[in-house]
Amino acid sequence: MKQLLIAPSILSADFADLGREIRAIDEGGCDWVHVDVMDGRFVPPITIGDNIVKAIRPHTNKPLDVHLMIVEPDRQLDAFAKAGADIITVHQEACIHLERALQYIRSLGKKAGVSLNPATPVSTIANVMHCVDLVLLMSVNPGYGGQSYIHAVTDKIREARKMLDAAGSNASLQVDGGVNASTVNEVVTAGADVIVAGSAVYSKPDYAAAIAELRELGSATITG
Ligand code: DX5
Ligand code: ZN
Repeated sequence: MKQLLIAPSILSADFADLGREIRAIDEGGCDWVHVDVMDGRFVPPITIGDNIVKAIRPHTNKPLDVHLMIVEPDRQLDAFAKAGADIITVHQEACIHLERALQYIRSLGKKAGVSLNPATPVSTIANVMHCVDLVLLMSVNPGYGGQSYIHAVTDKIREARKMLDAAGSNASLQVDGGVNASTVNEVVTAGADVIVAGSAVYSKPDYAAAIAELRELGSATITG
């Protein structure tokens, strides 16, 4: 049985004090640090570039889980790898040559992730199971923290879990968007083994307590 991993998203952190905000979730018991990179094109906002990833790298030894919500991600893979990302996730919708992008991430010595927007079917990644270390299902339309979980995605989590198991894949199944104390059980029961939580951690006064609560509520049901 896999252990549930908690990846707080720094999108909801205080950007003026990112080093301290990252050390706080590290000491608070997070498993990964989720970094939301947005380019103002794939999604409306602009957030974090490779220079910020490089700047935060010394503040934690935990894996930096970099979620690229950008067009033409191929152009940025070298930069984020060099900056210190451990996992690099591209969107299926942004990649014309998805298999090549995933293999390239692996060739850089990084874990390769693929993400799907809520409206994109799980079947669109069936033919890249052999080169995927992480599948990230968006459970909100990407771009903003603090949105509500889209319950229609729960069926996609079940479907992705079946697909990974059938392929004999050991890839992580991560869910991102609107995951909090009310929804974590549904997400994990459906088969997720990594949850991203932005506002559910960073809007709380005690990050360690928020992480522990998510872990406890989710771990009771983990099946992946
Ligand atoms: C949304 C980002 C998410 C977001 C999650 O575009 O990919 O990682 O920060 O935020 P919450 O947990 O607040 O929905
Ligand atoms: Zn994200």
